[in-house]
Amino acid sequence: MSAHIDPAKPKYYITTPIYYPSSNLHIGHTYCTVMADAMARFKRLSGYDVMFLTGTDEHGQKIQRIAEEAGTTPQAYVDEIVAGVKDLWATMEISYDDFIRTTEARHKVRVQELFKRIYERGDIYRGTYEGWYCTPCESYWTDKQLVDGKCPDCGRPVEWASEDSYFFRLSKYQDQVLALLERTEPEPFLDPETRRNEMIAFVKQGLDDLSVSRSTFDWGIPVPIEEGQVIYVWLDALTNYITALGFPEYNNESRAGYDRYWPADVHLVGKEIVRFHSIIWPALLMSAGLPLPGQIRGHGWLLLDGGKISKSKGNVVDPVILIGRYGVDALKYFLLREYTFGQDGLYTNEVMLNRINGDLANDLGNLLSRTCGMAEKYFDGAVPQATGADALDGELAALATGIAEKVEAHMDRFAFNHALAEIWTLVQRSNKYIDETAPWALAKDEAQKSRLAEVLYALCESLRILSILIHPYMHHSAEEIRRQLGLSPEEQDILWQDAKQWGKEAGYTVKKGESLFPRIDVAKELELLETL
Ligand code: MSP
Repeated sequence: MSAHIDPAKPKYYITTPIYYPSSNLHIGHTYCTVMADAMARFKRLSGYDVMFLTGTDEHGQKIQRIAEEAGTTPQAYVDEIVAGVKDLWATMEISYDDFIRTTEARHKVRVQELFKRIYERGDIYRGTYEGWYCTPCESYWTDKQLVDGKCPDCGRPVEWASEDSYFFRLSKYQDQVLALLERTEPEPFLDPETRRNEMIAFVKQGLDDLSVSRSTFDWGIPVPIEEGQVIYVWLDALTNYITALGFPEYNNESRAGYDRYWPADVHLVGKEIVRFHSIIWPALLMSAGLPLPGQIRGHGWLLLDGGKISKSKGNVVDPVILIGRYGVDALKYFLLREYTFGQDGLYTNEVMLNRINGDLANDLGNLLSRTCGMAEKYFDGAVPQATGADALDGELAALATGIAEKVEAHMDRFAFNHALAEIWTLVQRSNKYIDETAPWALAKDEAQKSRLAEVLYALCESLRILSILIHPYMHHSAEEIRRQLGLSPEEQDILWQDAKQWGKEAGYTVKKGESLFPRIDVAKELELLETL
């Protein structure tokens, strides 16, 4: 894992939640991982030494029950699902640096180490736990927390439960956690603000100590100081963010990853698990005397037919089918362009198909094929470096070279949709530039040959800049554009800074290739998707 550490660069550590392998992942999970992937790629391109971690959260009563119902062991059950999760991320070309499974030895021993440390500090004690338990959410609730007698997170029925348990002194950290949540400088610990306000209100109601062990089932990491208890699945799960880096030290194994990358810059999480990440996780770290993550970013849910897309509700959209039909880039583009970070968004096939057709097939795809087509037709593909004094060219150049900086500002706020909208102003401006300069008219007049060269060179420059700008979000298309322009598609040859410079290439050797995104017959495709 730590093999790729590059001390010459600034570091950036981003995580996704570790997913429950209770059944196959759906488009909602894909949404979160695609955002993290785009951010990781963006940071790599901008010169960071990135650590991007994802994985699976494999313990707990729910998994144990599902495995039993399926007539198998929990380990065999999760092994199969996790293989599917890894396949999905391979298909989506998710560029994670490490994948942690909570059933791995490297994780289990370190969770036990951490448990012991917190216990030795006096922040874990033995007691009895009683409360309303939501099995799917693995959460205990008090009477006043229930909503209509049901789990406040998922709305499902809860059951009364009581057990001997170890407790973590969460109450002790109430003031410190509150101060953390109220912090606004240098940036808020928790974003967006709506979530922050919710969590501040939650902490102000008072924090109870947290039960951190279970004795009613055994699919978990054993409590290291007493037999018959397993560690609460959320303590087990949250700790993955440091165990994957090799901390706490165990068996002389390297903790170089921890020393290099911790604290995380961002934990990207869905809104319903913000509470665990912004209250419990910092309190555990405070107790263990460890640095806190820089920021928790809570995203909204993708909704389908008015409800959250959810495995247990059975209203699942399978990303593999969508990728098979439209490709990875189209799906990633749609997810990042359509939804606003922090808010819920409605998923429909129609919205997706229209995005792919409009923005990708029409706007970007046409720009590439028109430009390359004309370069071949008028210059046999050899477009000389040519910059004239035309005001239109100056305007296009100014727009093009200014976009990278605007994208950086949007990415700072995880506003992927605004970043892409910004990039598409250049796509659209370039298409308009073709209409305004009318190269086909220039081509009829031999005296206009040098102007024609200027126009095509400007279009190639614009596409070159676009190939850099879109790379974090859709690297296949970026590479294909570069191939058709005769530029190296290799990642190490793509530098973010080059998107800020105009007139960089000493001419282009263009070779028109496949169209980037075939046009879709939306009505026909919608019918077909229904049957799938
Ligand atoms: N295992 C815990 C996380 C532990 S992290 C230390 C868990 N797993 S989960 O599989 O239920 O959910 C993982 C993530 O997927 C959550 O952030 C959740 O918000 C996200 N999503 C699940 N369904 C979703 C949508 N329909 N839309 C967007 N994100 C969704 O919680």
